[in-house]
Amino acid sequence: MAIDRQRLKDLMTRERQKFVAERPKSKALFERAGKSMLAGVPMNWMMKWAGAFPPFVREAQGAHFYDVDGHRYIDLCLGDTGAMTGHSPAATVSAVNQQVARGLTLMLPSEDAIWVAEELQRRFGLPCWQFALSATDANRFSIRLARHITGRSKILVFNWCYHGTVDESFITLQEGRVEARRGNIGPPVDPAITTKVVEFNDLEALEWALEGGDVACVLAEPVMTNVGIVHPRPEYHAALRRITRKYGTLLIIDETHTICAGPSGYTGMEHLQPDFLVFGKPIGGGVPGAAYGFTEQVAKCIADKQSLEDCDTGGIGGTLAGNALSLAAMRVTLEKVLTKAAFDRMIPMAVRWASGVERAILDFGVPWHVTHLGCRAEYMFTPRAPRNGSQAHEAMDFALERFLHLYAMNRGVLLTPFHNMALMCPATTPEDIDHHTKIFRDGLRELVA
Ligand SMILES: Cc1ncc(COP(=O)(O)O)c(C=O)c1O
Repeated sequence: MAIDRQRLKDLMTRERQKFVAERPKSKALFERAGKSMLAGVPMNWMMKWAGAFPPFVREAQGAHFYDVDGHRYIDLCLGDTGAMTGHSPAATVSAVNQQVARGLTLMLPSEDAIWVAEELQRRFGLPCWQFALSATDANRFSIRLARHITGRSKILVFNWCYHGTVDESFITLQEGRVEARRGNIGPPVDPAITTKVVEFNDLEALEWALEGGDVACVLAEPVMTNVGIVHPRPEYHAALRRITRKYGTLLIIDETHTICAGPSGYTGMEHLQPDFLVFGKPIGGGVPGAAYGFTEQVAKCIADKQSLEDCDTGGIGGTLAGNALSLAAMRVTLEKVLTKAAFDRMIPMAVRWASGVERAILDFGVPWHVTHLGCRAEYMFTPRAPRNGSQAHEAMDFALERFLHLYAMNRGVLLTPFHNMALMCPATTPEDIDHHTKIFRDGLRELVA
């Protein structure tokens, strides 16, 4: 069934008015913010919320937050995975409070760093770890190291991937042509110089791109999550690994979002064997931090090429990276929050969310589908699961997406602003999920009735 665009427009106007009318305090703060911040927000993504302005937050706890106007929200965005642990998990807050009183950043290691590295060894099977402040940095550093080791200049990414603000990754394939990604702000060079891009799940294109022997690394999410969820075909990862090895290309698996699959991410679940692995966002329970790990062989190559005199100016670093606060937060979050028991609670919530949405899609006869990966779920405006980024991107419908997000926000549910993603944290309850199912059904009824 096609969506009636006029009806969508009318409903959107009504929802916009409702949003503004019910949030006078956020509106006043937004007007004030416009006088000191670009577009009235501290960070550009915050412009993207579906209302006329973002709701300003008063406080958040677990799976919920309150805005300054007193509205309570079920948070299915969870800071786009940064708060997959739930907001301010008690164990992390307590350890962070203790660390705050004992020194925050020193450019010296603490014992926590060893504990975290040992735990990451156990979870992901990679022997050597380093720390950064964001997943973007961890990806950038892994790419640099891959170039350094292989002596090759290019990297390869999948079409419509997202790995943070990594310059090399803002590139798309449009009708066979490689172009800077739409909206790419001030690229340092044409990304076609640094990057090859192929479709996910296309092994022939991958092999063709790597056989020239100029690609240092493939940077990949094991399941694409940033253009909707795109699962790999069966055996895809085995072939990806075989082909990368065949051409001497290193494989960086970015688990920043796919950690939603379980305590060891998709890598642990599917026994992947990357050369590098990146894990950021929720690793510190919301305190900034990220880790990247690599094989013994990679570690040896790095050590062989390392110069003591220049090790601080090689393009890998960050004054506050590996700081005592991040590492205390990572230690307690890995030990007490992002545990197997937590995933055992979160994953059934995503299944419940997906089956509620699927039932509604069937009942209202819209040509959409729902998919999930661990504690992350997503509906997409296409009847079949996409096989690659292009198919997923083509299925996007910005106006429809914004309506459903605003409809949800006006009824106390926050979805991720970029697509229709819902993430569960350990504190998400069946009642939270059922509330989303109800309002999703109500929204669909209004759209198609
Ligand atoms: C898969 C993946 N990697 C890396 C990043 C970058 O994370 P950050 O913005 O925290 O650096 C993101 C952000 O959305 C991501 O989705």
